[in-house]
Amino acid sequence: MKILLVGGTGQVGSEIRLVCHNKNITCISPSSSELDITDKASVHSIIKNNLPLDFIVNASAYTAVDKAEDEVELAYKINRDGPLQLAEVCAQNTIPLLHISTDYVFDGSASTPYKENDATSALGVYGQSKLEGEFAVRDILLEHIILRTAWVYGAQGNNFVKTMLKLGRQRTELNVVSDQFGCPTAAVDIAETVVNIITQMRYKPDSRWGTYHFCSGDSTHWADFAKAIFTDAKCLDSEYPSVAVNSISSSEYPTKAARPHYSVLSCTKIEQLFAIAAPTWLSSLQRDIPNILKNI
Ligand SMILES: NC(=O)c1ccc[n+]([C@@H]2O[C@H](COP(=O)([O-])OP(=O)(O)OC[C@H]3O[C@@H](n4cnc5c(N)ncnc54)[C@H](OP(=O)(O)O)[C@@H]3O)[C@@H](O)[C@H]2O)c1
Repeated sequence: MKILLVGGTGQVGSEIRLVCHNKNITCISPSSSELDITDKASVHSIIKNNLPLDFIVNASAYTAVDKAEDEVELAYKINRDGPLQLAEVCAQNTIPLLHISTDYVFDGSASTPYKENDATSALGVYGQSKLEGEFAVRDILLEHIILRTAWVYGAQGNNFVKTMLKLGRQRTELNVVSDQFGCPTAAVDIAETVVNIITQMRYKPDSRWGTYHFCSGDSTHWADFAKAIFTDAKCLDSEYPSVAVNSISSSEYPTKAARPHYSVLSCTKIEQLFAIAAPTWLSSLQRDIPNILKNI
């Protein structure tokens, strides 16, 4: 099996490369300077030069949620126009596309986990640009999987777990928001899921194309997530400082972009159609934190 991965240096992309390596899947993973998703000519030529391909996986994105409010044009170029271009080349060359999206396509007004066909309504530029990327993929290409995930963390890149672990070494007390609920998801688990899906989907015809949610199977808020991070860090390293976490509301921690108060995703569909079970957030955190701690 041979795939082309866009965004292979990111949190999720770097784990996808590793899973492919372990499963003997050929993963062509050009850097963003070799394949700039905003540059139509580069997208076309890299893909054409690497045919035949069993799948294209798009793990690239503009992910700076607050900065996107100022860099609106760039966010739309990467998150909407990029997937659109990928979908066009996929359609021309009959290659299926797995595109990763986000829980931030929802506004958080629900009180039960969002299902794939629930109404979307993003609160900020990041969420809206990702939502329009989804629309583009769906419009152009039947053979697509859109995989929405949430609250991603891993050993690579920037994320909440790494931020907390670094701050915990500098401060004895931290204020963390406790009125935003979501599903912390390990990049490792997303990568396993991506490779599982593309492996299952290579045998055509298949009726399972469409949109899926994958994240941890249970939810929490940022303050409880932070407490678990510090408890685990202390268990692993007795010299890691004790950090007190104070719960605050979002209004006490204003950010440039509004975030949904509730972006919990239901993973029932992926479990039923692909037999992929969503792990609990604490079990994945406990598995991955030793590696993350080594990398900060
Ligand atoms: N992070 C989260 O909490 C979160 C939550 C929900 C959903 N998601 C979604 O999950 C997916 C993966 O996110 P992530 O956290 O792994 O992202 P990330 O760590 O920010 O990595 C983004 C990747 O996109 C690449 N990229 C950026 N601009 C590009 C361009 N113009 N052309 C080609 N590649 C470009 C980056 O390359 P360089 O390193 O070279 O810049 C990097 O490899 C995204 O679709 C994101 O929307 C993320």
